[in-house]
Amino acid sequence: MTTTVKMTDLHPPADDVRADVLEGLQAEGQKTVPCKYLYDARGSVLFDEITETKAYYPTRTEMSIFDRESASIADAVGPRAAVIELGSGASLKIRKLLDILDEPAAYVSVEISKEHLAQSAEEAAQAYPDVEVQAVCADFTRPIEMPEIEADHDSRLVFFPGSTIGNFTPEGTRAMLARIRELLISEADAAIVGADLEKDPSILREAYDDPDGVTAAFNLNLLERLNRELGADFDLASFHHEARYNDQKKRIEMHIVSDREQTVSVAGHRVRFGAGETIHTENSHKFTTAKFSALAGEAGLRLDKAWTDENDLFSVNLLRRA
Ligand code: TRP
Repeated sequence: MTTTVKMTDLHPPADDVRADVLEGLQAEGQKTVPCKYLYDARGSVLFDEITETKAYYPTRTEMSIFDRESASIADAVGPRAAVIELGSGASLKIRKLLDILDEPAAYVSVEISKEHLAQSAEEAAQAYPDVEVQAVCADFTRPIEMPEIEADHDSRLVFFPGSTIGNFTPEGTRAMLARIRELLISEADAAIVGADLEKDPSILREAYDDPDGVTAAFNLNLLERLNRELGADFDLASFHHEARYNDQKKRIEMHIVSDREQTVSVAGHRVRFGAGETIHTENSHKFTTAKFSALAGEAGLRLDKAWTDENDLFSVNLLRRA
């Protein structure tokens, strides 16, 4: 079966893994590696597996909110929306949304990975023959120029699910919300943004260090990637995964901990680790609805509605131009 999904390539700049990793590992003080490097082919598969573990509640809970609040969400968005999804990955969430909405007019998938993009757009085009499907290859951490949508539509709906909005620094979150704001061009337009909520730290630690060790494998896969792509010689047996809750910053931090003092060669450079020293690989900030609303306000958005689950674990937020 062939489809004719229009693809717009905004040519996202290629990653410079070597430069980014060396900069992060040679930094004075805390070593870091940008979290996007966790998502190579194996990392993406492992992340999908994380979302299916019992401990990792966000994905399942967000889906349950879409089920529980489907009528209210459809009503708030209104008919004939053109949905723009930022970072589609191999996600199934868009289907849930398109199933809920009243006669969605279009679906524009924005994704940096061409492979994921082609696949998700083709699948959507086949599953929703009445919806205009377009693909945009772009990095959503930069301003996005939207292609023309041909189908008649009453509004735009920007869709940014998951807890990705929590993976930025606070300034990065504000900048992301501001880019979302730029995509809303009329009063009728809206954005649906997932945000994970503050909760008992023990639930968070378990979710980010599941007993089956899937998250640990996901985090440590980064070292395998560096060994393979940068000719590094990380000894995987002498590092372990750790999820720490930073109560002051209300975020879960993912670290790779060196079990002993050791020196690793990375792209021809020697990187020294003390015993217990870590590479900080990811942050996942947790919000209250009040804090999220304030952040949105700083980006020129207002929180119109916030839907949560019965245990207040996760929130699905409807934002409009302030
Ligand atoms: N967006 C996900 C989150 O914040 C990312 C994530 C989940 C993650 N588990 C992880 C990132 C483990 C690094 C390691 O929940």
